[in-house]
Amino acid sequence: MSHIQIAIDGPSGAGKSSLSKAVAKAMGIIYVDTGALYRTVGYFARSKGITLDNISALVPHLGELNIEVRYENEVQCVYLNGENLGDRIRENEISMYASKVSAIPEVRAFLLDTQKDIARKNSVIMDGRDIGTVILPDADVKIFLTASNEVRARRRVKELEEKGMPASYEEVLSDMIKRDEQDRSRDIAPAIAAPDAIHFDNSYEGFDEALEALLTVIRNA
Ligand code: DC
Repeated sequence: MSHIQIAIDGPSGAGKSSLSKAVAKAMGIIYVDTGALYRTVGYFARSKGITLDNISALVPHLGELNIEVRYENEVQCVYLNGENLGDRIRENEISMYASKVSAIPEVRAFLLDTQKDIARKNSVIMDGRDIGTVILPDADVKIFLTASNEVRARRRVKELEEKGMPASYEEVLSDMIKRDEQDRSRDIAPAIAAPDAIHFDNSYEGFDEALEALLTVIRNA
């Protein structure tokens, strides 16, 4: 297949990004992390002094926002008004901001073309919450990746620790459950599986086994 689109949806910590990166490498295609776009908008909202309980105050400021995605050494970099934010968008507080801004219809509309454009121009594996349902409804393969809450929270704690932003397991677990519920129950583009998605449970397997299993699912789809 010359041009391929793979959609990976599922809650945070299910292993979407690490598995997608490895699949992209194995297949010679681009990995697109769409959560990074919502995180960047969340970061912008916080920098404007907008609070989580008044997040819709962001809407009038969207015109001041320019987001650009560039690939540098095969790594996705998101630029906010010309500045690469790097790991600053991974902070725990920014996770909650990202979840809040992602429920605003104007924000989803604002990011729609950026995502569709990348997939039009490149073969991609794109991960997020609405990739199979909204962004790439005609994707060649749709995967809904899940794992238990405990496994997902442990992964997030490890990831934050590795990035030098330690957070407690209890805090990460409770924030994650709250955020998932918020993402799943929102009116627009709720984080649910597409009807034709293949469900893939990533709770128990080691990374290499999970990757092999996922590649087999993709190749056989
Ligand atoms: O994948 P992530 O944890 O980096 O995503 C951050 C937030 O952005 C998450 O709470 C849900 C939201 N999001 C979304 O609504 N749609 C996407 N395609 C990707 C992320």
